[in-house]
Amino acid sequence: MTRDIEQRKRDHLILAQNEALNFSISAGFDRWRFIHNALPEINLDEIATRTTFLGKELQFPLLISSMSGGVEESFNFNANLATAAESVGCALGLGSIRAALENEKVRDSFLIAREKAPSTIIMANLGVAQIMGSQSMDRVAAFCHDLKANALIIHLNPLQEAFQPEGDTQFKGALNAIKTWVDEFPLPLIVKEVGQGLSIEVIQKLKGAGVETIDIAGAGGSNWISIERERLSEDQSILKQTALEFANWGEPTAEVLENLETDLCVIASGGLKQPLDLAKAIALGAHMGGVAGALLRQALTDDTEKLIEQLLVWKKTLEMAMFGVGVNKIDELIGNRSLLHKID
Ligand SMILES: Cc1cc2nc3c(=O)[nH]c(=O)nc-3n(C[C@H](O)[C@H](O)[C@H](O)COP(=O)(O)O)c2cc1C
Repeated sequence: MTRDIEQRKRDHLILAQNEALNFSISAGFDRWRFIHNALPEINLDEIATRTTFLGKELQFPLLISSMSGGVEESFNFNANLATAAESVGCALGLGSIRAALENEKVRDSFLIAREKAPSTIIMANLGVAQIMGSQSMDRVAAFCHDLKANALIIHLNPLQEAFQPEGDTQFKGALNAIKTWVDEFPLPLIVKEVGQGLSIEVIQKLKGAGVETIDIAGAGGSNWISIERERLSEDQSILKQTALEFANWGEPTAEVLENLETDLCVIASGGLKQPLDLAKAIALGAHMGGVAGALLRQALTDDTEKLIEQLLVWKKTLEMAMFGVGVNKIDELIGNRSLLHKID
C-alpha cells in the first residue's frame, strides 16, 4: 500500500510537468484585462503588497499550492519550496501527509519544510477520504504539531480518485466529516479541490459546514484527470477512453471568482500560469492566489535562487499592476472589479 502511494507520487511529479496534459480550456484570466490608469495619484514606493493570512503577515498574497512529500525526491523539492517561501514571504502548502501518517520513514520529506521555513505559513494537506475513515484526528493533529503547521488543507478530488485504478471513491458523508473536523480539529481547516474546482453551490455548502477559507483549485492548469489517464494501463482501456471525455471537465477558476459573492476567505488557484493572473485573481475577489504547476519544474531543480527569482517576478508584477491601476494596498485591490475590463 505504502509503495503504491510512493509510486503514485513519483508518477505525479513527472507527469505534472507535461504541459500537453494541462487543460485545453483556460482558467479564464485571459478574458480580463486591467484598465490602465495614467493618473494613479500614488507613488510607486508607497505600494504595499503585504497581507495578513491566518493572523500572520505575508509579504504578498501568494500560496505555493500543495504538491509533494512522501517520496525520496520530495525531500529536496520541499526544501527548495520552503527556502523560497521563507525568503520571499509567501505561504506554502505541503502535499498530502497521508504517506507520512502511514510510514514514519518518509516524515522527513515534510519536516524539512519547517526547518527551512521557520517563520512563514506552512499548511498540511490531506484528502477528504482520509478524514472520513482511515486517519484518526489525534494522529493527524500530532503530525501537524510536529510540522508546526498553521492550518490543515483538506482536498476534495472525487473525479481524480475515480480515474485512479487504486482510487478511493467513497464520498458519501464527506460534508459531515468536514463539519466534524472544522468543529474539533485544533487548527483552521481549509478546503480545496485539486484542479476541477469548487462550484458556487459547493462553496456555499462548505460555508454551511463552518469552513471559513476555501481554495477554488479550479480548471485551467494542471489536470488530474488527464494525468491519471496517462497512468492507466492498456487493459483499463474503457476507463482510459472515458477519461478523454473529461479532459476539460471542471470549473474555470476566474469564472468561479466572477460569480462568487461571499464573505469567506477565498484562495484562487488552478491555472494561474503567469504572474499577472495573481493580480487579476485578487481584483476578481480572491484574498490570495495559489500556484502549483507553474513552479513545479523550477522547484525540482537544485537552483533555489532561480525559484526565488521566479517568485519575486510574481511579487513585482503584482506591485506594478497595483501602480498601473492606482491602488496602494492589497485590501483596495481585493474584489475591486471596477479596475478590470472583460474581453468578450
Ligand atoms: C505534482 C503535483 C502534486 C500535487 N499534489 C497535491 C496534493 O497532494 N494535495 C492537493 O491538495 N493538491 C495537490 N496538487 C494540486 C495542486 O495543489 C493544485 O490544486 C492544482 O495543481 C491546480 O493548480 P495549478 O493549475 O497551479 O497546477 C498537486 C499538484 C501537482 C502539480
